[in-house]
Order: sequence, then C-alpha cells, then structure tokens
Amino acid sequence: MQQLIDTSRGPFSVHDAGQGQPLVLLHGFPLDHTMWTPQIARFSVTHRVVAIDLRGFGQSPPRAGVATMSEMAADVAAVIEALELGRVVLCGLSMGGYVAFAFQEQRRDLLRGLILCDTRAVADAPEAAKARRVTAERVLKEGTSFLADSMLPKLFAEKTALTHPELVDNTRQVIERANREGVAAAARGMADRKDFTQDLAMIEVPTLVIVGESDAISPAAEMTSIAHRLPRAELRVIPNAGHMAPLENPASVNGAIEEFLNQLP
Ligand code: MLT
Repeated sequence: MQQLIDTSRGPFSVHDAGQGQPLVLLHGFPLDHTMWTPQIARFSVTHRVVAIDLRGFGQSPPRAGVATMSEMAADVAAVIEALELGRVVLCGLSMGGYVAFAFQEQRRDLLRGLILCDTRAVADAPEAAKARRVTAERVLKEGTSFLADSMLPKLFAEKTALTHPELVDNTRQVIERANREGVAAAARGMADRKDFTQDLAMIEVPTLVIVGESDAISPAAEMTSIAHRLPRAELRVIPNAGHMAPLENPASVNGAIEEFLNQLP
C-alpha cells in the first residue's frame, strides 16, 4: 500500500506490502519506487517489501539545495525506524546503490544484507560532477524532459527498447513528472558523493551484486570488480538487460534475489 509516513526526518512516501523479513528497495535517478513493480509483486508474497520514494522523488517532498547521499541514507534509516522494521536487506539500484553505500557506513546495525544493483563505488570525476551541477540548474529552469531524452538510451539495453518499448515509455513518464527541485538536489548530491572504492574490502555484510550484461552506466566489468573486492559478495550478471535490469529481466533478477534471501543467516 502506498502511504505517506511521518518520520524523525519528515514525511516520506513508501510502498509497504507483505509480511515477513523486511526487504527495502531504493530506486535510481531520476525515478521513483515504481521501477521496482516486478520485485514488489514477487517478494511481497514472502517478505515485507518497503519501496521508498527517496527525498524529492515520487510523492516524497523535496528540500531545495543539495540532497547528499548521506542525508538520503539517514532518511532511509528514519523510515526503517518509523516502520519498526528492525534489521533489513537493503537493495539499491544506481543512485539507490550510492545511498546504500552511505547507509552501510552509517547504520550497519540495521543491515542483514545488501543488494547492489547496477551501481558504482567510484565518485564522479571533476568534469562529470561539474556536468551534474549544470544539469541541476537546467532542470530547475526547463524541467526534466531533456533529461529523459539524454538518459533513456543509456538506461535500457537496445534490445529491451525494441522488444519492450512500453518499459521505456513508462520510465519516460516517471522522469517527466519528477519534481524539479528534488531532481536538482539529488544531481548535486551525486556530484558530491564519496568514493567507496577503498572501503569495499571492509564491507562485511553479505552482499549480492547484480548487473545487466549491457549496462551502459555501471558496466558489468566495473561491477565485477566491486564484487571481487567485497569480502562476502556474490555476483549475478543478468542476460538481456541494461542498467534497468530489475525491469528488463525481472525473472532473472528475482531469481538471484530469491536465492540470496534464502541463504542469508
Ligand atoms: C541512476 O540510474 O540512478 C543514475 O544513472 C545514476 C547516475 O547518474 O550516476
């Protein structure tokens, strides 16, 4: 059920469904919880699935300025505490993964397991960070349509765009209705994010690393290297999928998540 909940860090919109061990889902940029629809459908049968709209996305109110990954991680902890979920498996895609890296640094006490999906451990190079800040200004002036045009070809594998154009259309709608202030604040926050590469060897929580074989944003080779550096990680490369693997090949992604959840202590 979709609801606006009160937390110590303000109101957040969450989709909360099912019962059992909690699985918390964090979406990518500039999306919302609806990107997890196939995972919500599958795992709410066996788990309590909480798909959060991060600050400024979906129905969660924005805050002007910069939304850092650390602040978003603190927001996620506030949601977990407000819903009294206890220890959770936290699954983040791309920007959601950046937030998950910050979360494990802040609140390892709240983690049973981590799922890093199509994400990166490195920070932005200076040029990329600068480009994000320019994007933030442009979004505030013009809205998000130009972002949909530039991002969609990178989000989905070419094959998915041909065989499932409805996925691309739905995602375009999500990007076009995204809140300008929320998108700008998160773009600035990503530009400022910490590089976690040197921390990977110290992340001892059981982790599943998932990547679409044709991911153009967080390539499979880069995610393979993340998985190799993490002490307790398993890697699943998802066939017939790009950056939006959970939407593009839900059967394969759900199978990987199910196996991971079943073997957690
Ligand atoms: C995302 O999917 O969240 C974005 O591609 C992340 C990014 O722009 O680095």
